[in-house]
Amino acid sequence: MCGIIGYVGDQDAMETLLIGLDNLEYRGYDSAGVALQNGGGVDLVKREGEVNTLKAAISSLDIQGSSGIGHTRWSTHGEPSDANAHPHTDCSNDVAVVHNGIIDNYNELRVQLTEAGHTFTSDTDTEVIPHLVAEKLSEGKTPKEAFTQTLTALEGSYAIAMVLSGEDTIYAARSGSPLVVGIGDDGYYLASDVPAFLEFTEDVIYLEDGDVAILSETGYETIDVEGNPVSRTVDTVEWSPEGAEKGGFDHYMLKEIHEQPTALERATRGRALTDARMTDGGTAANEIDPELIADVDSVQFIACGTSYHAALYGEQLLADRGIEARTSLASEFVASPPPLREETLVIGVTQSGETADTLEALREAKARGQKTLAITNVIGSTAARECDEAMFIRAGPEIGVAATKTFSSQVTTLAQFAGFLSDDPEDLPAIQSELTTLPDKVQQVLNESEAEELANKYRDAPSYFFVGRGTGHPVALEGALKLKEISYEHAEGFPAGELKHGPLALVTPETPVFAIATGENEDRMQGTIREVAARGAPVVVIGDGSVTFDGATDQLTIPSTSPELSGILANVQLQLLSYHIASLLDRPIDKPRNLAKSVTVE
Ligand code: M6R
Repeated sequence: MCGIIGYVGDQDAMETLLIGLDNLEYRGYDSAGVALQNGGGVDLVKREGEVNTLKAAISSLDIQGSSGIGHTRWSTHGEPSDANAHPHTDCSNDVAVVHNGIIDNYNELRVQLTEAGHTFTSDTDTEVIPHLVAEKLSEGKTPKEAFTQTLTALEGSYAIAMVLSGEDTIYAARSGSPLVVGIGDDGYYLASDVPAFLEFTEDVIYLEDGDVAILSETGYETIDVEGNPVSRTVDTVEWSPEGAEKGGFDHYMLKEIHEQPTALERATRGRALTDARMTDGGTAANEIDPELIADVDSVQFIACGTSYHAALYGEQLLADRGIEARTSLASEFVASPPPLREETLVIGVTQSGETADTLEALREAKARGQKTLAITNVIGSTAARECDEAMFIRAGPEIGVAATKTFSSQVTTLAQFAGFLSDDPEDLPAIQSELTTLPDKVQQVLNESEAEELANKYRDAPSYFFVGRGTGHPVALEGALKLKEISYEHAEGFPAGELKHGPLALVTPETPVFAIATGENEDRMQGTIREVAARGAPVVVIGDGSVTFDGATDQLTIPSTSPELSGILANVQLQLLSYHIASLLDRPIDKPRNLAKSVTVE
């Protein structure tokens, strides 16, 4: 989804902004642009297409400056085009603005501004912002006043950055879309997320909704829209810049699949669990207040996409322990809120902590008086800050649009959470002990997987089906999602038992069926495999090889582990399968069409 980068300081602003835009590419975008303050005006270059197209356009120009803003746009209002790309400016090109989010009242503002003589050059909602600022400047307001008064006229969600002709200052504001300030030795940075400037600084301030930040070469201030100072702490990001680079792999996705042994070790190690409390790393920000779960008798999960599948897996783990749990897609939770008891803990599972649907659902739950917990990868994310408590999955930065290691880390974290809620005091130590063996088992899958051979064998199939039972069901859903999003091939996941109630009509000798034979459902899976094999479909069994399935064509073997964790290993095999099919089909694996890493609009 849209990305923002800003820089003011001693370095060449253009070079810094272009590095930032490269780093933002993973979010998914359709156009990009930059604006630099040049002393006598604002230099603006923007292009539909890739950052490389923008760079080519800039290379023939001589643009220099020490402050500027850049943007990668993912269209919401208006088609992808040069004109609709950000930054947007006022009529005289003195005010340049980039924006993430949606301005709900832009139509009304646009009519008013047009009547006041402003001319618009794009179809975007964003363009009202520079025109509004220019209007206020023409009334004699200072830039700070013009900016903050403009904010009060906007309805909707935004992260905004602005530069003005004549001063090396960046004005920024956040309301509903993430924005983070970076404090470097050679200047100040601004971005929609940390990886954009991680190679320049690890010291960051996560802005909160309602914050305004003003950055100049000599310092920064944080205020509210009324101009009152607000105090924000400087955090140190623990992610390394190398963690956000490809490290010799062809794609981030493959790198992140291979990072899973380390990620799972981090998700388990050092998570101090006692009978009285569950802490996450020992720092205050990571600590779960025992009060939060004191009276909890049931759990409502809220999530989207891959995180939804992880939550379904968590639901199963809780249900196995007799704990009532339900999982809702965040968008559905908002559309049709289910009844909740006071003792129901609402858990938002979200890698980014910024998914708009999930945030809206969590806010709805909070408004109804529920206790809320975020299970997220991003410290300082909106979900982490807005929920009563947060548990961090510690997967490290995930750049590929396709979620891989974060699914495994989410399930690992949820398994520990389930053990913690369990009535059986032996349960949690048993889960933790099994989890400590998991990184080596994932490594074994990575070393020995035959997924690439099977990808070659089945690369031309018209459709792919994934079936599983119990925890194998969310793994089947996730296997299908991964394949469709990065290969663009048709894939569906079903509960194995449902196959005969309809989807079996789609099964032919051309459609491979991937049967996740994990957990304790081998006998029933045998029935499903026979059903499918009888229709001539090739069946690939993902299991530990302890059972020979009649009718299976191929096998993706996983090491044996406890039945409830085996889905994590099966899923790694399916991640590799999807990756290799997409690679053979020459798809843009890290940036699949139409998709964004963090979906910050509803
Ligand atoms: O950041 P979140 O976990 O809240 O994101 C939710 C989904 O958008 C996300 O899991 C998406 O489905 C994956 N990128 C797909 O691989």
